[in-house]
Amino acid sequence: MTKLKVFEIPAPILHEKALPVEAVTPEIRQTLADMLETMYASNGVGLAGNQVGLLKRLVVMDCAGKEEEPCPIQMVNPKIIHKSAEMIFHNEGCLSVPQEYADVERHAEVSVQYLDENGQEKTLTATGLLSVCIQHETDHLDGRLFIDYLSPLKRGRLVKHLEKRRRRETEE
Ligand code: NI
Repeated sequence: MTKLKVFEIPAPILHEKALPVEAVTPEIRQTLADMLETMYASNGVGLAGNQVGLLKRLVVMDCAGKEEEPCPIQMVNPKIIHKSAEMIFHNEGCLSVPQEYADVERHAEVSVQYLDENGQEKTLTATGLLSVCIQHETDHLDGRLFIDYLSPLKRGRLVKHLEKRRRRETEE
């Protein structure tokens, strides 16, 4: 397996729309495995194709708690088919917006249809962190980041904070 490069803001690919995958080939399975390895190595709970420089509708996630057994989920062409009217706020972060967090409002429950790593059609209904993660990752595939939900003022502050920390890190 290979650890992949994670693209961070302001990389333009993060704002592009990823394209559907035509078939779940061995290459796609390898890419998903590499994405999982990259996500675990970066202590993330989710990763989408755009974030590793691939405009393909691929997502991996693992929302198991630290004390729980790993629960990797691999999705090809995920599509949210149901969203609850009830909303929740969750403090979100993203490997492409390192070390910055903000509260984002999301649907409390979603159902998502996708192909798994074996090309089997699946439907998953999720609440809590997994529901948030599914919405965050499918957003990535449409070129949307969690910070795009913030007011321009809040987003501006967050981006400035990130740039300041990057400058400090390069000076050290
Ligand atoms: Ni993200």
